[in-house]
Amino acid sequence: MDFFETINTRKTIRKYKPDMPDMDDVRKIIDAARVAPSATNSQNWQFIVIKNKNILEKMKNAVINEYDKLAELNTEEEFLEKINYFKSYSTFFVNAPIVIAIVETKRVSYITEMMKKLNFDNEKLKYMRPDSSLLSIGGAIENMSLAAHNLGYGTCWMVAPIIATEEFSKLLNLDNDSHVVSLLPLGIPYRDDYQSPPKKTLEEVIKIID
Ligand SMILES: Cc1cc2nc3c(=O)[nH]c(=O)nc-3n(C[C@H](O)[C@H](O)[C@H](O)COP(=O)(O)O)c2cc1C
Repeated sequence: MDFFETINTRKTIRKYKPDMPDMDDVRKIIDAARVAPSATNSQNWQFIVIKNKNILEKMKNAVINEYDKLAELNTEEEFLEKINYFKSYSTFFVNAPIVIAIVETKRVSYITEMMKKLNFDNEKLKYMRPDSSLLSIGGAIENMSLAAHNLGYGTCWMVAPIIATEEFSKLLNLDNDSHVVSLLPLGIPYRDDYQSPPKKTLEEVIKIID
């Protein structure tokens, strides 16, 4: 597939065939993440390939448990409806043959830490010092999504399940300096007619300053 065709035809896939992806392909997909750019080349990531159904079930239950705890704090109907929707939006990864857990490992920015010590306002710091660590990981995840699509697989970049990140840390034996920031279920698309939601036009998002 041509480079721009890969970019333009990638779409989120949430249902997969049960077939196990070829492990050489999975390695290629993670290798695409490995070479992504990262702030100060920190490469503050790790990619855990989970095939174990028992672990995936436990991760799903951990997510449901977190949403249930949230539902106990506010019983307004609208909130409970949203929670119910989010439960399914967050847990379908359990049905994928493989889930890649993307782990952020600790990275300390010297300048940001110094600005904190100098009592810069936290709200301002958020904009002056964007989270380079997470931004870098975003690039790596997109590389994986594109590589997977190019090899004929579907993925869904998932952040909603991260509500259970503390439990994920226990299940995946992570140390204190690491936590899961996204999940990427991977598999052959169940159907081939999934559609992406509409995108803004180029004219809506581009601004040229002459
Ligand atoms: C940072 C991020 C987090 C996302 N989290 C979820 C999620 O938790 N569950 C889900 O079903 N989709 C999730 N998505 C997928 C988006 O819903 C999807 O990318 C968007 O609707 C556009 O569709 P497309 O990927 O087909 O272009 C996420 C996407 C991104 C980039």
